[in-house]
Order: sequence, then C-alpha cells, then structure tokens
Amino acid sequence: MTPVLSSRYDGMRYRACGHSGLKLPLISLGLWQNFGTGRPYETQRAIVHRAFDLGITHFDLANNYGPPIGEAERTFGKILQDGLGAHRDELVISTKAGYRAWPGPYGDGGSRKNIITSCEHSLRRTGLDYFDIFYHHRMDTDTPVAETAAALDQLVRQGKALYIGVSSHSPAHFVSASRVIEAAGLTQFTSFMSRYNLLERQDDAEKWPIAAAYGAGGVAFCPLAQGLLTHKYLGTSPAAGARLADELSRASDDAPIRKLIERARALNEIAALRGQTLAQMALAWVLRSPVVSSALIGASSVAQVEENIGTLNQLPFTPNELAQIDAITL
Ligand SMILES: NC(=O)c1ccc[n+]([C@@H]2O[C@H](COP(=O)([O-])OP(=O)(O)OC[C@H]3O[C@@H](n4cnc5c(N)ncnc54)[C@H](OP(=O)(O)O)[C@@H]3O)[C@@H](O)[C@H]2O)c1
Repeated sequence: MTPVLSSRYDGMRYRACGHSGLKLPLISLGLWQNFGTGRPYETQRAIVHRAFDLGITHFDLANNYGPPIGEAERTFGKILQDGLGAHRDELVISTKAGYRAWPGPYGDGGSRKNIITSCEHSLRRTGLDYFDIFYHHRMDTDTPVAETAAALDQLVRQGKALYIGVSSHSPAHFVSASRVIEAAGLTQFTSFMSRYNLLERQDDAEKWPIAAAYGAGGVAFCPLAQGLLTHKYLGTSPAAGARLADELSRASDDAPIRKLIERARALNEIAALRGQTLAQMALAWVLRSPVVSSALIGASSVAQVEENIGTLNQLPFTPNELAQIDAITL
C-alpha cells in the first residue's frame, strides 16, 4: 500500500525552520510511542501514510525509541520500504542520539564516539542514506560542547545529515554551544526542540527567545502533554487505552496530575466556544508563537492524526481568549 493522495499539499501549511531554508509542516509526527513491538504494524503504517497524505512531511525518530530500543527506526524503515520511500525527497526525517541506546560508557551522551556511532546504527535500521535533521537528544554536561558540535558538523560534512539541532538543552547550554559553533565556523543549529504545551509553557519566556536569537526554529514536542490536553482525560476516569492511565492509577500522590486535568477541563470550555476540540486548541496555541516552526505530535490512531490536522482550520486567537487561557495556565 502506498500513500495515494496527490492533494496532500493543499491543506497543510509550512513554516521556515528558523533562519534556514528548510520548511517544516505546522504539524509533524513523532514515533516515540506506538511504533515499537506489541502494536499492529498495519496500524503503524496506516498512521504514517495518512499523516503524509495530509501533508505531514516531517517524521521524528530517535535511536532509543521503541520498545525495544531502536524498534521505531526499524518500523519506520519498513514503512519506507512499503511505499513511503518512493517519496524520500518529499520527507524530512529526523533522528537523535544522546539517551542510552546500548550498554557501557559509549552508549549515551554527546561524545563524538556516541554521536557518530549512533548515526551509523540509525542509518542501518532505517535503511536511509542520510537524515534530514540529526539531533543531540539531551544536554550532556560531561562532554565539552565543542566536541558535540564538531561531531554533528562532521555528520553534515559526510552527507549523513543535512541539518542539525539540539533537544532538551538549557538556554545557557544552547547559547554556549551556539557561540562555540560561531567561533569555529561549524554547522549552525537549525532547530531547537523542546517540550512545550499549555500545561508546560516556561519556554515562552526562556528557550524560544534564545532559539530566535541564534536563528534556530523551535520544534515543540509533547504539545498535547502526552494526551492530557485531549478529550481522553476529561471524564471521571481516563479513556480506554490512554497512555497515562497506568501512571495515574499507580501514582501514590495523584494530586499534581489531577490539578492538570482540572486545568484541561477549564481549557476545554474555551476550546468548545472556539468550535474546536481541546487537542486542536492546544496545538493552535503552541503554533501562535512564530518561533515555533512545528508542533511535534504523537498518535496512536489515524483518527487522532485527522483530528489534529483539523487545527489548521482555526489558528488565530482573540486577545480575550488568550487572556482567559493565561488565567488558567500561568
Ligand atoms: N526530544 C525529546 O526529548 C522528546 C521527548 C518526547 C517526545 N519527543 C518527540 O515528540 C513526539 C510527540 O510526543 P508525544 O507523543 O508525547 O506528543 P503528544 O502529542 O503530546 O501526545 C501524543 C499522545 O496524545 C494522544 N493523542 C494525540 N492526539 C489525540 C487526539 N486527537 N485525541 C485523543 N488523544 C490524542 C495519544 O495518546 P494515546 O497513545 O493514549 O492514544 C498520543 O499518543 C514524540 O513522538 C517524539 O518524536 C521528543
């Protein structure tokens, strides 16, 4: 089965990722969850193909996504072989290294050893010749930023990555790495990936201005707070199969998460007045910041992708709506 729609670019909008020439779809799809073993391959393939048919050209991986570790890259490689690969030039595929992916002292972090070796593993698992964006997945204060920056630059010079980025770095670490890059004339960061949603909005004041100052585009991950900002948690108990249901039932003190759900319920009332679902309003809100190039969602079904794409029908907020949202979330 190959993706079928020739109209796939009609509904999607694309934003330049920072000062680069690379455009990202306003909504991208990540394969952190739902693409390991234990999930039907047919569903995984259907989600990715439908996403692409709706104009989602950007798919995000990491060396450790599974389970088991590496499995999401293998699954994506299979989907590429199953038809999607015919569209390689229309896709932006990213992966990352930085979290533990194999045992011993070289299986994580930002060392040249880990970055270069991990990229080779990821290329093999996906069957790709190159990644469009290669990320250092998390901050590593044990490794000099110059070493990580040079390793990422090496991937670009070798043609194994077209662009590079960092994820989950503190603003100070991002600035220090960017200064090293500028001084040494290395490849600049195209994107700064960070967790950002209506319930975790500290990047408004912190990371996005720094990303903008260095010409990097923001990529907002977990824009739905792993599902908390959807209908799934609004009832008296989580919907069947909801990702955070186990966590909620196991938590010895569930007061913090219950507080977030209360906020989600209040936000849902604003979404309803806007004629949107809570998920759609949450994505529109993330995208209101021009520094954010893309909201990087996850999905466990085709229907979720379709609902989330509906966000694009109504992006702007009135000042009154934003004030009401601030009153709930700040
Ligand atoms: N750089 C990093 O360190 C880092 C960390 C985390 C994530 N990421 C990236 O960000 C991507 C997205 O993260 P995420 O999966 O946490 O994002 P998310 O969009 O906040 O959450 C996705 C989950 O929300 C639920 N959902 C999505 N749309 C829905 C809808 N319309 N209605 C009801 N439920 C809906 C689904 O939960 P159910 O599964 O319960 O159905 C889905 O699995 C990852 O795949 C990864 O690529 C990066």
